[in-house]
Amino acid sequence: MGKGRVALVAAGITKFGKRAATFRDLIAEAGKATFDSNKKISPKDVKAFIISTVYPERSAYQGHPAPLAAEWCGVRPTEFHERVENQCGSGTSAIRTAYAAIMAGLTDLVMVIGAEKVMVPSHQEIFLNAMGGGDREWESCFGVTPPPLFAMVAQAHMQKYGTTEEQLAMVSVKNHNHSLKNPHAHHQKGATLEQVMTSRMIASPLKLFDCSTNTDGAAGVIVASEERARALTDNPVYILGTAQVSDAYPWANYPKDWSSWPALKFAGEKAYKMAGIGPKDVDIADTHDCFTISEIIEYEELGFCKKGEGGKFIEEGRVDYGGEVVWAPSGGLIACGHPFGATGIRQGYEAFIQLRGEAGDRQVEGAEIFLGHNLSGLGEHHILIYGRN
Ligand SMILES: CC(C)(COP(=O)(O)OP(=O)(O)OC[C@H]1O[C@@H](n2cnc3c(N)ncnc32)[C@H](O)[C@@H]1OP(=O)(O)O)[C@@H](O)C(=O)NCCC(=O)NCCS
Repeated sequence: MGKGRVALVAAGITKFGKRAATFRDLIAEAGKATFDSNKKISPKDVKAFIISTVYPERSAYQGHPAPLAAEWCGVRPTEFHERVENQCGSGTSAIRTAYAAIMAGLTDLVMVIGAEKVMVPSHQEIFLNAMGGGDREWESCFGVTPPPLFAMVAQAHMQKYGTTEEQLAMVSVKNHNHSLKNPHAHHQKGATLEQVMTSRMIASPLKLFDCSTNTDGAAGVIVASEERARALTDNPVYILGTAQVSDAYPWANYPKDWSSWPALKFAGEKAYKMAGIGPKDVDIADTHDCFTISEIIEYEELGFCKKGEGGKFIEEGRVDYGGEVVWAPSGGLIACGHPFGATGIRQGYEAFIQLRGEAGDRQVEGAEIFLGHNLSGLGEHHILIYGRN
């Protein structure tokens, strides 16, 4: 233990959407789907367990979720059980924690489940829950939630670089059309440019379809040492590189220019270096499209195009099937949905099926490198790069 590489050996997911399922139901469903994906692993083989979840105390009235979630998956951990919470970046943080535990020699196999019950009956309650992730005394008390925050980011980018509302809308059209091929996605109706442009204004210039979707959902992966992985599957999906950078929180402390995210640039460079690759090697990117403007800035900071040219990059069709890289084939947070603690694990699931050639209608042919990214603030970024070899 503690040597060599680390890989995903199993992955499963629930349907995302407005679910009648409880927090417990979602976890049990994701746990079963994860075990179903690799019949060589049963719950009794799992001795280390991580749950990624952001606010079950508020939305499901459930604290202390790690041992409970393990039990709901049929697992009795004897090496460790932990909860990882890092707001919208929790899922990627949780897989990184499993990676670190394996590299440290604490275990050679970890089950990681991400789950969130977001859709509570009162919409006000959903917003109040979201405000729990901001600085209570300096920001949340003034009503700052992600839509107005990212609207200011979009305004800054439009002002500085001439990015247009149509270019923002193109991200949504792409992601909504990708989700048509994802049976687990929340939205499965697709979208046209006109539909996005004429959708209800949320926080100018962001309209309904520019926003990620509140959704219930859960996903799971099993992470193993290379030696264990080789014994459990012929097609492990390796973690090639990872990085986590934080340079300012709360938002008021963020540097003046909100249209640039230097922490993401730094995180990308670190993860590429660790993986021994560059942006040109990436076949699929599944980044934190919490709002359309975020995906545009992510093209830039992750080195896929020059700073300020993200709008042009989507307009030229370079991030879709047939382009240089396929961005968010699942539909991303915008159309597949964003159950906070599950999102990074959902990206791990997507890496697992895409790099093994098991993604069905949305398969990116010959994909070898997958870049997953979450943000949990403009200056907090979490990256995992997965590879077939
Ligand atoms: C944009 C937003 C405010 C809309 O919420 P809302 O006004 O409460 O919308 P509702 O839940 O009442 O949904 C009304 C309709 O719009 C649809 N809808 C809701 N959010 C949507 C979205 N983001 N994109 C597309 N359609 C959406 C619903 O499916 C529903 O359609 P239906 O009537 O056909 O069932 C909400 O989606 C939001 O807050 N998104 C951002 C979430 C966020 O900040 N996450 C953290 C990011 S870091």
